Amino acid sequence: MNIIVCKSYDEMSQRAAQMVAAQIKSKPSSVIGLATGSTPEGLYAQLVEMCKNGELSFKDVTTVNLDEYYPINPTNDQSYRYFMNYHLFDHLDIDKANTNVPDGTAADPVAEAHRYEQKITDLGGIDLQILGIGRNGHIGFNEPDQKLMLDTHVTDLTPDTIDANSRFFASANDVPRQALTMGMGSIFKAKSIIIMATGANKKKAVSAMLERTVDTSFPATMLNFHPNVTLICTADVLE
Ligand code: GLP
Repeated sequence: MNIIVCKSYDEMSQRAAQMVAAQIKSKPSSVIGLATGSTPEGLYAQLVEMCKNGELSFKDVTTVNLDEYYPINPTNDQSYRYFMNYHLFDHLDIDKANTNVPDGTAADPVAEAHRYEQKITDLGGIDLQILGIGRNGHIGFNEPDQKLMLDTHVTDLTPDTIDANSRFFASANDVPRQALTMGMGSIFKAKSIIIMATGANKKKAVSAMLERTVDTSFPATMLNFHPNVTLICTADVLE
């Protein structure tokens, strides 16, 4: 795993944006995997800036997001579709038809998970995947468990994740109990991966990942199997 330690959140966002921009410049029709959460907000602001400056174009880019709550309506401001439109897609020259987020309103979530996995396969996999990390070591919504799923699937959120994400909702009771998420295999279809982490509450999860062991109770440790992963983090995560 390559590790880039940054002095500030801004520097972390810039370094990640430079890597995304380099990917899109070298292959304008790239498939970029995207994450939600507060960690990549600065990265998305940088990409919007680059696009507004005319430095970067998303006209031929396709995006696939990692996950979405279930059930949730895209008009709900806590849905990941709403987050992506608000922070990124509404400000880029991207064709919205080429932005993919699992459908939190699907009547049959299992069928939706299959459709989403097939979509990733049909796109030929992901060129560059952006990941955050849950404080319990989850990636996407692959929660700590004895078994981890390979394909996109419906998952129950752990009490820890419901608690961590309740800060965005009126109360913990309003956090959906389930989600649709890419599996470990879907994520591993990415040719390269950037995992971003900032803040002392990510220390435990990141240090588990850097131990160079693999443990399904910290799903991010699986990234040690992938040949092309870059951790971009702020120094507080490693202190
Ligand atoms: C959520 C998302 C993850 C994200 C994680 C960390 O649960 N499903 O994809 O990486 O939380 O979020 P944050 O960056 O806000 O700490």
